[in-house]
Amino acid sequence: GAQELRFDGQTVVVTGAGGGLGKAYSLFFASRGANVVVNDLGGSFKGEGSGSKAADAVVEEIKSKGGKAVANYDDVSNGEAIIDTAIKAFGRVDVLLNNAGILRDVSFKNMKDQDWDLIFKVHVKGAYKCARAAWPHMRQQKYGRIINTASVAGLFGSFGQCNYSAAKLAQVGFSETLAKEGMKYNILVNCIAPIAASRMTETVMPPEVLSALKPDRIVPLVAVLVHSSNTTETGSIFEVGAGHQAKIRWERSKGLLLKADSSLTPGSVIAGWDKVNDFSEAEYPQGPANFLELLEESQKISKNSTGEKISFK
Ligand code: NAI
Repeated sequence: GAQELRFDGQTVVVTGAGGGLGKAYSLFFASRGANVVVNDLGGSFKGEGSGSKAADAVVEEIKSKGGKAVANYDDVSNGEAIIDTAIKAFGRVDVLLNNAGILRDVSFKNMKDQDWDLIFKVHVKGAYKCARAAWPHMRQQKYGRIINTASVAGLFGSFGQCNYSAAKLAQVGFSETLAKEGMKYNILVNCIAPIAASRMTETVMPPEVLSALKPDRIVPLVAVLVHSSNTTETGSIFEVGAGHQAKIRWERSKGLLLKADSSLTPGSVIAGWDKVNDFSEAEYPQGPANFLELLEESQKISKNSTGEKISFK
């Protein structure tokens, strides 16, 4: 028969693990042999209040099934305390799932600094502080796997969620940079944009859709990414949910190349707009365009490359 992916002897830290996706991760990794740190602040989905019940219930469930877990109730913006719990209880940290999150939905017109700041505190500062605290341990042991949680709201925008969208796309840049810095130390960092039924989505999706979107369905892809058998997949973005697992990547059009001198005017850009938007010869970049090469090429252009009549300058 097929072998199980196992995590024996490893410590997996799951933030926001008192419910939803975080609970599903915790139960799974514990069932596959991992020591799990079940972190949850225990507040409302809007980030109000706190309590120990949510994390405790998950720890109890893991223990009742013979697994190993400890609870932590700190706010993710206090990442050191969460990683400390892992080190004190289990002596190491191998996997960090930055999963805790809240929503403060409001139209941009009515957005208050408080709604903006709290979203950034939990999602951006939280992911940073937890990863920052885990990093020295992962570097030292030359092993680490981190998942940051983005959202389709961040990738594509979403009405009433400008704070959440901005914080969620931040996970992409954060992951891409940590992937580069972590490579040498066998620390792999990926980003997921999940879609699943939880208290966070129950107000925005109809019940029949929600029942098909179990948080458990997010777990397998995450397990594959954070397992030691993954040695190459890093700095990537995955959209996952409802049985679908897909990769998202950047696409750059071949673009409009004009001579880089004073003949480059708004009018010459308008004249070549089709080329800016032409994805027929697109590439899928892992980094910025080669500016030196482009500059050299652009110097060879004698006149406006489109050859069209320009009516604006
Ligand atoms: P959820 O509300 O069930 O779980 C989030 C957990 O994080 C809660 O248990 C909450 O108490 C905890 N939490 C909130 N603030 C915290 C803090 N400061 N410190 C520690 N714990 C804190 O929601 P769900 O759906 O499981 O969300 C998990 C992650 O997935 C979030 O980052 C969310 O933004 C993201 N996500 C979820 C989607 C979905 O379709 N469910 C869609 C896109 C992203």
